[in-house]
Amino acid sequence: MNPDDVYALGRSDAETRRLIIQHQIYGPITRRFFQAAGIGTRMKVLDVGSGAGDVSLLLADLVGPRGRVVGVEMNAGILDTARARVASAGWGNVTFISGEAHEVLLDSDFDAVAGRWFLMYQPDPAATLRGLVGQVRPGGVVAFQENDFTYPPTVFPPSDLSRQLQRWTIPPPGTPGPEMQMGTKLFKAYLEAGLPAPELHVEAPAGGGTDWPGYDYVAETLRSLLPALQRATGLDPRQVGIDTLAARLRDDVTSRQAIQMLPITYGAWARKGSSASRE
Ligand SMILES: C[S@@+](CC[C@H](N)C(=O)[O-])C[C@H]1O[C@@H](n2cnc3c(N)ncnc32)[C@H](O)[C@@H]1O
Repeated sequence: MNPDDVYALGRSDAETRRLIIQHQIYGPITRRFFQAAGIGTRMKVLDVGSGAGDVSLLLADLVGPRGRVVGVEMNAGILDTARARVASAGWGNVTFISGEAHEVLLDSDFDAVAGRWFLMYQPDPAATLRGLVGQVRPGGVVAFQENDFTYPPTVFPPSDLSRQLQRWTIPPPGTPGPEMQMGTKLFKAYLEAGLPAPELHVEAPAGGGTDWPGYDYVAETLRSLLPALQRATGLDPRQVGIDTLAARLRDDVTSRQAIQMLPITYGAWARKGSSASRE
């Protein structure tokens, strides 16, 4: 499968930068989620769809020097970035495997399998989960974090610009592409994968003021999505004024002492019981 068929956000350096800003915002939430899920020192953790390496770096911090992190990623280009970031952070116990998560050969003794914004790209998330559970030892942790992107970036109180931005960013129902509500469907996917009912962790980032990174994040996300939105909804990039969007959003929010809330994120975790197996 051509990776571009499933990844509407593109493959550019701008997309890699967007992933890094995104992690600046969501990283603290992801850390709290993994800690609640029981990921900690000395564990051997699999990070599927590891992207630019943000989750792997966070996991490395949680498992410490006596643990291990293995990332799997099908975009070879972004893996170079991930490897360089891990090397510059000085972690010698984080490695990456290039390939499709369904196809590469992986160990089956992981203490945990983890992923963020990965299941939304899988055609059958429950089947993918079921396969990944096979890589985890009995009693190991299965921890995935996904968003509900249909609750779009919201400004309180709203403005003409924030309402317009919501209209641009929500593709009409039925638009082909990733599962925009994967966060709300994690519970069902876990059950269908043969896992026990997962515990859920729900949080949304919010902020205001000039230094809040949300304005750049939203503008960079729209920049990455523009080609796909142009095809799906006929959105005219000239109408968006993408190069000035972050500054206009910042002015709009800060001038009114408003706040911006970003899409809600859902984390689900469960432990593999002795009966949860590859079927
Ligand atoms: C939105 S990014 C998230 C990256 C990272 N997990 C994070 O939270 O920063 C999704 C990543 O999953 C990768 N991906 C999607 N499906 C995959 C698959 N079946 N096998 C391996 N990688 C996959 C994509 O190439 C992309 O880099």
